[in-house]
Amino acid sequence: MLVLNSLDNALSISQAAQNLEEGKLVAFPTETVYGLGADAENPLAVANIYAAKGRPSNHPVIVHIAPGADIAYWAKEIPFEAEKLISAFWPGPLTLILKRADHIPDAVSGGQDTVGIRCPSHPVAMALLSAFKGGKGGVAAPSANKFGHVSPTMAAHVIEEFGQEIQPGGLIAQVLDGGQSEVGIESTILDLSRLHTHGPVLLRPGHISADQLATVLGVMPASADAAAPRASGTLDAHYAPHTPVVQVAVSELDDVVHQLQKNGKKLALMSYLAHPAIQADAWRHLPNDPIGYAHDLYAGLRDLDHAHADVILVEALPQEKDWQGVNDRLRRAAFDSRDVLQKMLNS
Ligand code: TXA
Ligand code: MG
Repeated sequence: MLVLNSLDNALSISQAAQNLEEGKLVAFPTETVYGLGADAENPLAVANIYAAKGRPSNHPVIVHIAPGADIAYWAKEIPFEAEKLISAFWPGPLTLILKRADHIPDAVSGGQDTVGIRCPSHPVAMALLSAFKGGKGGVAAPSANKFGHVSPTMAAHVIEEFGQEIQPGGLIAQVLDGGQSEVGIESTILDLSRLHTHGPVLLRPGHISADQLATVLGVMPASADAAAPRASGTLDAHYAPHTPVVQVAVSELDDVVHQLQKNGKKLALMSYLAHPAIQADAWRHLPNDPIGYAHDLYAGLRDLDHAHADVILVEALPQEKDWQGVNDRLRRAAFDSRDVLQKMLNS
């Protein structure tokens, strides 16, 4: 297995760039989550991402580019708004949806006339993108997890997801280890492809908040409408561990835990407030601020999943704007389990 710690290993970066140039898949760290990368201009390589992830092929993937790369190569009609956002937030956790240039393969755009572009700020990602095709290429990369599962924030998570595919003969040639992802949730996605009719539209909230975007744009981005470009990370069910996830209001947590334990259920709990009266079978205490919470969220869900509890109870978060990104991910992680709690309470 080729798992290389590449924080200060130029050799592994150039090897990864070469693997990508040869059409192979490389998992690499970004400041948000780990990505599973392929040469964006090689449709066969991009098809292998879909195969490894088990993801429907009509879902577009984000193209990652090096700092200073020519965005006009990837997109046509680059509005002034995009230029302002790029100088404010790139490299960083912001993906822009723009009209795609004609030569960008369908495999990347899921057949749509747009392309998602981002310039990540993780030093390993920047080094990889600068080495790949001399900094002129684009790396198509979704999060490095099986379709619908929790995104990886550490190299160990990628190995957990794709074990067999990382063996010789598997689909993934190399995993670059860049430590734990700083941000912890996926990039903010802003659609600028329909500015004339819809204005800027926030497709996925993230670390870069709507308020921060508004400061640069001069208008608040709209929420996604029915005609907005499709984004698989915006499916109702997504980011889910295997154990059902249920959000419980702070005021109800003691009672719910008590009743479930009376019913013989094994409980995993993720909380950010102290609950001295509660004894769960597995427990992750997350920071009581949205940035710290995002950083630990996915690793926390994975750890609690390993406890093989009947349910992962998540103490519901504040509904303030700052918490929008993590609330969005938790709502999707919990989506399929709305009835689970009621059944367990009644059984
Ligand atoms: O932080 C991130 O964005 C991470 C890291 C690896 O960069 N990537 C990531 O990729 O989260 P993925 O594929 O798991 O989620 C990207 C989302 C998907 O929901 C995809 O449908 C959407 O971006 N997307 C990509 N290109 C798009 C396009 N042209 N139009 C609309 N949505 C697009
Ligand atoms: Mg994803």
